[in-house]
Amino acid sequence: MTAEKTIDGMRSLTIGEVAKRSGVTVSTLHFYESKGLIASTRNAGNQRRFPALVLRSIAIIKVAQRTGIPLAEIKNALGRYPPNSKLTAAQWREMSSAWRESLNLRIRTLEALRDSLDNCIGCGCLSLNDCPLRNPDDTLGLDGPGPRILEARRGQR
Ligand code: FES
Repeated sequence: MTAEKTIDGMRSLTIGEVAKRSGVTVSTLHFYESKGLIASTRNAGNQRRFPALVLRSIAIIKVAQRTGIPLAEIKNALGRYPPNSKLTAAQWREMSSAWRESLNLRIRTLEALRDSLDNCIGCGCLSLNDCPLRNPDDTLGLDGPGPRILEARRGQR
């Protein structure tokens, strides 16, 4: 292992070491960093170095992604704490509790979508008027066909 010591004495890891220990590819780590989910510093040779604590953040990101939590929500949750801070069990409980409600909402939405799909199976009409999946919540469609907003704007000129 080529682990270095950072100024504050915390172990630092190369991106390859982080990839190996977390099971996440280097390109995914670059992606996480570009999205602000994890943070690195640069050593004298301008190479990325991550504190070992990043492994816990990556574990949280992976668990959250596995449950379908969008990256923006994950970033928002992690952003409540200083970058590369040691996330405690209590903080994880707090995050996962918030995500539980978000997950329940998505489950209800998907169930409603599935139930709508039951009407479409074997149909194939994809009708704007009759298909619940083709154009749901089309309130402007009640006023007539065509680009209602655009037509209204043209009428104002
Ligand atoms: S495809 Fe016909 S109702 Fe959806």
